[in-house]
Amino acid sequence: MTHKVLIAGGAGYIGSHMVKDLLAHGYEVLVLDNLSKGHADAVPHDHLVIGDIGDRDLLETLFARHEIAAVMHFAAFIEVGESVREPEKYYRNNLANTLVLLDTMRRHGIARFIFSSTAAVYGTPERTPITEDHPRHPINPYGASKAMVEQVLGDFDSAYGLKSIILRYFNAAGADPDGELGERHDPETHLIPLVLDAAAGDREAIAIFGQDYDTPDGTCIRDYIHVADLCQAHRLALDALLQGGESAIYNLGNGRGFSVREVIDAAAAVTGRTIPCREAPRRPGDPPRLIADSAKAQRELGWRPEYADLATIIRHAWQFRQRRAGIEPGEAKAESAAA
Ligand code: UFG
Repeated sequence: MTHKVLIAGGAGYIGSHMVKDLLAHGYEVLVLDNLSKGHADAVPHDHLVIGDIGDRDLLETLFARHEIAAVMHFAAFIEVGESVREPEKYYRNNLANTLVLLDTMRRHGIARFIFSSTAAVYGTPERTPITEDHPRHPINPYGASKAMVEQVLGDFDSAYGLKSIILRYFNAAGADPDGELGERHDPETHLIPLVLDAAAGDREAIAIFGQDYDTPDGTCIRDYIHVADLCQAHRLALDALLQGGESAIYNLGNGRGFSVREVIDAAAAVTGRTIPCREAPRRPGDPPRLIADSAKAQRELGWRPEYADLATIIRHAWQFRQRRAGIEPGEAKAESAAA
């Protein structure tokens, strides 16, 4: 039997890779995306419903019309700094709207949910690598909004039998190995795409936020994970729930940390370009070191990351960037003509 999966936020960065992955593996998908951040051209047109996860009437219609076996939820705001300035936006979308989605699912008897959570639920960790039982002390509204949904999911399982798999991503990065899909955030705040902008000459320099952390080279260490490997983990989590599995929580990372300077050096090697850098003050809310222990996902889900190597992650992101630059020269020209 072919299962149909609703992918909320399926036109965004990780969601669009997920749509491609599930279609390639024989699932049916329905994408729900309000396009506030996502891109309609990142999903096959006939799979997209433009709408909001907080729109109860729309969800009622979709759940009545389609037999949905499970929901994957990528439709969240993700900028830590913005969440500090505008917490209402984060609690409304990431928490309140998610509650509307979960409540409508529950009333339609849809009892399988895959949730995109984050390493930000751990705050500044007491120890690394971080295992799933590490205490959760989010230090910003973004992380708190995700931790609150995790709490809701535990209670919804106990009370209503809604089974969920919570996936706590570390630093999602890279792009579709075929070069079709990639990261297109606006504004872009993530390290690897910004470094590649600097490599391409579209950004004067990459700012290194803080050089005096307690790390070997003084810059922050992160665990970068390829978006295709994240998708593989989601698909395995989906299969686990479809086979009657219980609710669970998994960290997703490669268990290896790279400093900001190491990422810049790796990008210089991959692109063959000089990457101009400048030293900048620490960015508030950045923990010095985030490294995942993902042994549980490997053991229980059978997750086997294919693209754990940092150079491969950067190469795929670079290939996507170059391909887009080649595809849209007209756009760049039009912009400079207007300026
Ligand atoms: N960095 C720079 N210069 C930049 C951009 C980033 O030095 O121009 C540094 C950051 O300070 C950080 C590292 O590069 O040390 C990685 O930064 P990102 O913004 O790429 O990623 P974060 O680790 O801040 O954020 C990621 C996810 C968030 C999630 C968080 C968990 O993108 O959604 O991990 O802590 F909340």
